[in-house]
Amino acid sequence: MAPEKTDFLVIANRLPVDRRIGDDGEVSWRTSPGGLVTALEPVMKLQGGAWIGWHGAADEDLPEFEHDGLRLVPVPLTELEVEEYYEGFSNGTLWPLYHDVVVTPEYHREWWDAYVTVNRRFAEKAASLAAQGAVVWVQDYQLQLVPQMLRELRPDLLIGFFLHIPFPPTELFQQLPWRRQILEGLLGADLVGFQMPGGAQNFARLVRQRVGHRTVRDTVFLPDGRKVLARAYPISIDARGFEQLSRTPEVIARAQEIRDSLGNPRHVLIGIDRLDYTKGLPQRLRAFGELVRDGVIDVDEAVFVQVATPSRERVHQYRLLRDDINRLVGRINGDMGRIGQQPIQYLHASFPREEMAAMYRAADVMVVTPLRDGMNLVAKEYIATRWDDRGALVLSEFAGAAGELRQAFQVNPHDINGMKQALLEAMQAPPVDLRKRMRALRKQVMENDIERWATTFLAELAEARDTGPADGDD
Ligand code: G6P
Repeated sequence: MAPEKTDFLVIANRLPVDRRIGDDGEVSWRTSPGGLVTALEPVMKLQGGAWIGWHGAADEDLPEFEHDGLRLVPVPLTELEVEEYYEGFSNGTLWPLYHDVVVTPEYHREWWDAYVTVNRRFAEKAASLAAQGAVVWVQDYQLQLVPQMLRELRPDLLIGFFLHIPFPPTELFQQLPWRRQILEGLLGADLVGFQMPGGAQNFARLVRQRVGHRTVRDTVFLPDGRKVLARAYPISIDARGFEQLSRTPEVIARAQEIRDSLGNPRHVLIGIDRLDYTKGLPQRLRAFGELVRDGVIDVDEAVFVQVATPSRERVHQYRLLRDDINRLVGRINGDMGRIGQQPIQYLHASFPREEMAAMYRAADVMVVTPLRDGMNLVAKEYIATRWDDRGALVLSEFAGAAGELRQAFQVNPHDINGMKQALLEAMQAPPVDLRKRMRALRKQVMENDIERWATTFLAELAEARDTGPADGDD
């Protein structure tokens, strides 16, 4: 029997679920804690939508299934495709290239070939499931060729694309041997969304320079009369959901327990990141370590808790980073710690949402210092949990979130002295100053949540159809 067609499709590299294998060997799925699925769930349920994505294991072809009322359609990847498409082109080429080449991107023709093959597989799957005139929303850098491939298969569809990571400056993007194909891939969409206005502008400039299309402000005019919009939609979080969670007695009690187990120091500083070289972990640990070494901070008075969630562990640069951080934490704790008092508590593990909320609540200072970041949702999650207007956020000016979170203590993560200064300011600021800042930050985050983000994007995508050449308006 042919699968049922749908009017709304989300396509992302990953399905929004993790597989669990119980002690008895029984397999179950758990919705992963991302904001995207929370935002899209209502739309998906309302429209009977489906989500197409990889389920995270190689060499396994699973039938579609339902979880929590969501229709999930797995796309298989072979072991070699995981290596070449996911670890290779997506995370060894595009990820560093799009993050200001903070490590050197690698360009391999076989990685590119795998990227094309896998993007085509996603596009074909979507083409077979979409009803006539359906809305399809393609997510992120792993799938930039899908919009064009899908349009060729199904010109009737309304296609949106959103890039969750930064879109690089034109000078860097030009390095990519397949730059033109990527631009043309994205131009298959009716609306291409970026985190920041700068990303949308970089894209429009490249389309002019490299593909030769005319652009006027946020609109690209294609020779066939079609228009493509390139606009910014800063992503957010399920702010109310996070606040509610952080108000539960369990989370409040757990936050106190965390502080107790740290020895109830005056200052608890926390960093929570995927273990990724874009996150500026060494820089922030060095800054904190130097403050302790210089005697400005007393190990009895302050603790830095750094959570680093394991990520992309088979990619070479991620392995190097893991070793670097292990060494750095070991050196700082070895040099500066005392029995029962280590300046840095380092956890290489991932935690459920409840524990994250408790950690945010336990932190006097949240430290977010990426060298480059599309948005950074951890910064927004921290703010959502600070319903008592207490706490301080130290935030890199190179995170997309810095554009909205103006009242954070903003830092340049490359400037270690500047970071030391900002950490101290955040720790020592008078409570009335902190409250004023936090109130403003909270207003920003609570008003601009993920629901508003998704609704705005989808509404503007629908308008793109209304004003498109199909209606004769060109
Ligand atoms: C970033 C990307 C996502 C990706 C996530 C986790 O947020 O924008 O597309 O899913 O990192 O990385 P992973 O490689 O584990 O999917």
